[in-house]
Amino acid sequence: ISDSPLARKKIVVTAGPTRENIDGVRFLSNYSSGKMGYAVACAAARRGARVSLVSGPVQLETPVGVERIDVTTALDMDQTVRRLSGDCDIFIGAAAVADYRPTHPVAGKIKKHAETMQLELVRNPDILAGFAQQRQPHQLAIGFALETDGNHDLAMQKLRAKQLDLIAYNTFDGHSSGFEVDTNRLTLISRDGTQTPLPLLSKRDAANRLLDAIEHLITGN
Ligand code: PMT
Repeated sequence: ISDSPLARKKIVVTAGPTRENIDGVRFLSNYSSGKMGYAVACAAARRGARVSLVSGPVQLETPVGVERIDVTTALDMDQTVRRLSGDCDIFIGAAAVADYRPTHPVAGKIKKHAETMQLELVRNPDILAGFAQQRQPHQLAIGFALETDGNHDLAMQKLRAKQLDLIAYNTFDGHSSGFEVDTNRLTLISRDGTQTPLPLLSKRDAANRLLDAIEHLITGN
């Protein structure tokens, strides 16, 4: 049995992209592979946590000891997280959730007509912010924020706006950090504004450094 403060804690992790249907054969999505979220889920299970992994469509094996629930759209992910997170201790949002979805998805295949077409989009619910707003005092809300312009302030704003305990600012450089690759460069930012830059690490090691920081939040040292 692990002596980690995370042992027996219930942790819900989101991972991967969401897909937002345009019609029956097309969707909007992004390049998330799920690797970061799966690494977090795997590392948490190894520390003895009871982990539910709410996963968008990805090509990854389910980590040993983790309960995986597959979802497709942001609305599916939102409903599933609401169902699972009421009694969790920690919610970690590593998914790249589509901010918008087509307002009127079409059942069949949209036919080509004019040279241009317009697609109206509507905002998706913010799953992490929704959890943070409704949570009980003992429940921790942890986020990620991938920014393409090297701006930590945007991650800090998300931490504040979503009322999080910790956010992992995710550098995106197009080759060694961010979507799809096996390595990542994170800066952990806590509520009081303390920034802890981590070096370029494997996603497994980055996940463990994030969990170390969450353990510190729990134990207070
Ligand atoms: O999957 P990989 O290929 O390994 O890539 C990992 C990753 C880059 C996707 C991951 O490390 C990461 O940074 N995930 C967050 C991506 C992002 O930019 O999120 P955001 O800034 O749109 O959202 C901030 C936070 O709110 C995230 O925790 C996100 O999960 C959450 N969110 C966002 C929108 C929404 N509708 N619901 C949410 O819960």
